[in-house]
Amino acid sequence: MDTDGLMALALEMVGFTEVPADSQILVPGTNLRRLLVGIDIGVGELLLARERGFDGVIAHHPAGGHASVHFHHVLRRHAELMEGAGVPHGEALRAVEELSAPRETAGHAANYDRVPAFARFLRLPFLNIHQPWDEMGRQRMVGALEACDEDAAVGDGVAALHALPEFGVAETDIVIRLGEPAHPLGRWAVAHGAGTNGGYPVAKAYFSHGVDTLVYIHILPADLQRLREDPALEGKTLVVTGHIASDSVGITPYIQRLREEGLEVVALGGVLEP
Ligand SMILES: [Fe+2]
Ligand SMILES: [Fe+2]
Repeated sequence: MDTDGLMALALEMVGFTEVPADSQILVPGTNLRRLLVGIDIGVGELLLARERGFDGVIAHHPAGGHASVHFHHVLRRHAELMEGAGVPHGEALRAVEELSAPRETAGHAANYDRVPAFARFLRLPFLNIHQPWDEMGRQRMVGALEACDEDAAVGDGVAALHALPEFGVAETDIVIRLGEPAHPLGRWAVAHGAGTNGGYPVAKAYFSHGVDTLVYIHILPADLQRLREDPALEGKTLVVTGHIASDSVGITPYIQRLREEGLEVVALGGVLEP
């Protein structure tokens, strides 16, 4: 296996045809048999991988390079998902712009070459796969919710999500941050696989256009506060599934595939393997 093959497999598993802006081969390599996979990879993990004889390392979260600087482009995926749920185009784009502008500024300020430079120095093959793995997580969560009955309650939806085995081994629970378990699940959407959570503006747009239950994997406290204080959102539900558990839902099928292909994969640093 080489780094191109690793990236291509991630795309193929979710039906993507292009490498998204938040994913990147930072140090190419061939003949990889033993891989370290982690959610967050820094210089320490790279050094450990080299010391312990790994042939390459895959991070989930961007670890530098253009995947960090241009990360904000993948936030546009929120608009596609929102439009699929009935949010008008212009309104979806305005919500995304609210998220995107600060992310672009932060990416522009970051030391984007700290970790990649050390991987190059160590001559250690290194890539990050972000959106494709999150898309896998989104597809699995959508599949779980699609199995719910038409008249299901929010609590039934949470139970259906929880049946994904990664949630079963997580320290975190799936939490209803806004609303009640007895509320109807109603029209639902999973806003995931779009860089990061949509915060207040994306949730507000979904709820304003007929979505009753929205699923995020995480949310900032300030955004949650705004949602809770918005009187127009009475009766709406926000389910938050937990960051590391939900990232793991997207990552484990890929690790499984690599092992089926005969690679040795060690997953550390937050990847939950049921
Ligand atoms: Fe993720
Ligand atoms: Fe994440």
